[in-house]
Amino acid sequence: MNPNRVLDELARHQLVDGYPLVVDLERSEGVWIHDAASGQRYLDGFTCFASMPLGYNHPGMMDPDYLQTLKLASLCNVSNADLYSVEMAQFVDAFAEHATPEGFNHHFWIAGGGLAVENAMKAAFDWKARRLGRNNFEDNCNDLMIMHFRQAFHGRTGYTMSVTNTLPDKVGLFPKFNWPRIHNPSCRFDHDGNVCNDIEAEEARACAEIEAAIGSCPACVNRIAGILIEPMQGEGGDNHFRPEFMARLRQYADDCDALLLYDEVQSGFFGSGKPWFWQHQGVAPDVVAFGKKSQVCGIYAGSRLDEIEHNVFRRSSRINSTWGGNLVDMVRSRRYIELIVQDGLADHVLTVGDHVINGMREIARSTQAFENVRGVGSLIACCFETPEARDQMVRDLFDHNVIVLPCGTQSMRFRLPLVMTIEESDHLLNAVESATKRVAAV
Ligand SMILES: Cc1ncc(COP(=O)(O)O)c(C=O)c1O
Repeated sequence: MNPNRVLDELARHQLVDGYPLVVDLERSEGVWIHDAASGQRYLDGFTCFASMPLGYNHPGMMDPDYLQTLKLASLCNVSNADLYSVEMAQFVDAFAEHATPEGFNHHFWIAGGGLAVENAMKAAFDWKARRLGRNNFEDNCNDLMIMHFRQAFHGRTGYTMSVTNTLPDKVGLFPKFNWPRIHNPSCRFDHDGNVCNDIEAEEARACAEIEAAIGSCPACVNRIAGILIEPMQGEGGDNHFRPEFMARLRQYADDCDALLLYDEVQSGFFGSGKPWFWQHQGVAPDVVAFGKKSQVCGIYAGSRLDEIEHNVFRRSSRINSTWGGNLVDMVRSRRYIELIVQDGLADHVLTVGDHVINGMREIARSTQAFENVRGVGSLIACCFETPEARDQMVRDLFDHNVIVLPCGTQSMRFRLPLVMTIEESDHLLNAVESATKRVAAV
């Protein structure tokens, strides 16, 4: 098919509200997306919404042994949940060795980040029900709840719609549960990277809301199955939380006999320069949901789950899906893990991230075009005075062949490929600096 027909052909059969370009899978390379329709190339600052760790056509992905395994895995779509293969075991080994932190012995695989979070919630519901002595599958558990946060994005699946609350169009008009939603006490940063808002007051407000939710009925402490949070909220605005606050959540979860659930679908899998964002904060959860860059989505869970003998990781069929992830994704994920480890890409992205953050702070200082530059590794954002100013910047950058993302009401975020070089990141910084001048001149 002629690439120039792609968008029209698609539009005949489905909604086509994405980027007005046609990715050339052969000619796209590293941090550059080649548009098969126009012949132009775009600097990739969005990485398919933080889901593509090594950019396009990484030389390591051309390895003949890897390609042979990938071919085999793609020829038939086996149901990994019940039919096991060497290729699957090699992936699970690599993930458990290099990605899963010490002390988390349970894994579950599924396709889709929303479903990963949903299964973290299911693990918590099952655990809590049994902690309350409800072991009969006929027992009513409709009173169990997931405490969650404002500006959270956890997906658009059944349960996750009750905890996602970024924009109304994502969850409006669908039936939802009314579970406690707590203020999100996020940090603002000055041009030197210091927290510059009254973060203790913010956290006090959140803690007061948590305590009010727990105390709102005598049995409430017994109804909270999980406290769910993104260790850094992505879609909701790249909102960062202090380790002190995460430690408070750990304490509340322990006190309420609830599980602490982290959603690392966007922040996890080496994007922050560590396997998981929570490792920067140092407060361990009970369950972590992952997806996007890991290719295979799912959850890993720690020893608190074992307080229940027949937890969902032990009892058959409580959480499951036919394909249990996808074998092709498993083979690709294993190769990504190998290359990330072999090429030291976690450390590399920390260095490049620091360079971009410092560069963005310089631009912010000299132009006053934006503020609150924040981030770590490949996950970087800044804040504009108005949503319109942000939108104009994202548009202008796209018009000049640089793809970045909006988030929250007035933030712009970068999701950089882990392989981006300092020179390529300078291209991004120069593009932002030029855009601030153009936008200011309008
Ligand atoms: C933090 C977080 N959780 C869950 C999801 C949902 O993932 P998916 O779109 O793969 O269902 C996303 C997607 O952006 C996300 O950012």
